[in-house]
Amino acid sequence: MVLSKNSPCWCGSGKKYKHCHQEWDNTVNVLKLQGKKVPTHDMIKSEEDLKWIRKAAKINTGALDLVAEKIHPGMTTGEIDKLVYDYTVQHGGIPAPLGYEGFPRSCCTSVNDEVCHGIPDDERVLEEGDIVNVDCTTIFHGHYADASRMFCIGRVSEDAKRLVDVTKECMEAGIAAVRPWGHLGDIGAAIQELAHKNGYSVVVDYGGHGVGNDFHEDPFVYHVGIKGQGMILAPGMVFTIEPMINEGDYRLYIDADNGWTSYTEDGKLSAQWENTILVTDKGIEKLAW
Ligand code: MF3
Ligand code: CO
Ligand code: CO
Repeated sequence: MVLSKNSPCWCGSGKKYKHCHQEWDNTVNVLKLQGKKVPTHDMIKSEEDLKWIRKAAKINTGALDLVAEKIHPGMTTGEIDKLVYDYTVQHGGIPAPLGYEGFPRSCCTSVNDEVCHGIPDDERVLEEGDIVNVDCTTIFHGHYADASRMFCIGRVSEDAKRLVDVTKECMEAGIAAVRPWGHLGDIGAAIQELAHKNGYSVVVDYGGHGVGNDFHEDPFVYHVGIKGQGMILAPGMVFTIEPMINEGDYRLYIDADNGWTSYTEDGKLSAQWENTILVTDKGIEKLAW
C-alpha cells in the first residue's frame, strides 16, 4: 500500500505519514531491493502498544524481583508459582502461561537439567546446590512482556555458577549485538561465539520471539547465527532474547508424561536468561528483565 505523505501513518500514531514512518518505509524498501529480509508493519509496535507493554513489563519485573527476594532452599516450585500468580493478579495483570495451550501453572520453573517449560510442582522441593530458571510472562490490557532469570539455591558448585553467569553474559552479548538496521543473525552469532568459547552448547530447538501484542509473534530469534544474515532489525520491533545454554550437548528431549518439560539429553545442566527488548532509532531499550 502506498500512503500519501499527508495521510495518517499506518502505525496508528495519528501523525501525518511524512512526519512518522515514511522515512522508515523508504529505508526498508531500499533494503528489500538489496535482497534483505525485512520486517512487516505488523511487527512494529505503536506508541499505544508500547504504553501497555511497558505496564505489563513493570508487573513482570516486579514478580521476578519478588521471587528473587523470597526464593530459598526448602521452597517448592509450586510456592514460586503461587508468589507469581498472587503478585501478578494483585497488580492487575494476568499470568500468560496459565492455560496457555493447556499449560497448568502461572510461570515456568526449570531446575538443573531441565532446559525450559518446567511445570511448578507442590512436591518439588528446591535444594541447596540447585539452579533454577523462573520464566514469567504478564498480560496487561491485552499486551505481553516476557522475562526469566536464574537463581542459585544456597551454595552451588563452581561449575553451576559459571554456567549461570556465562549464560547471562550470552544474553547480554545478544542484546549488545542489536543495532537498528542491523541483522537478526548478529544476535545468534554473538551468543554462539561466547557460549562456544566457554565450552558450552547452544539450544537450537527453542528461540526468542516477537512479543507484545501476543505471547509469541514473529520473528523467531535464533540464538545461533551468522553476522550480517537474517531479517533486518528495525526501530519499533519488540522481541525476546532468551538463550538456553547447556553444559554438555545441545540435544533435548521432552517429558512424555506432561508434554512440556524439556531436559538435556545427556542429563547435564542447562541455564537460561530472558529479556524483552525494544529496537529504537538509536539502539535498544530493555522493557522486561
Ligand atoms: N515464557 C516462555 C517463553 O519465553 C514460554 C512459556 S510457554 C508456557 O517464551 F506455556 F510454558 F508458559
Ligand atoms: Co519468551
Ligand atoms: Co519466557
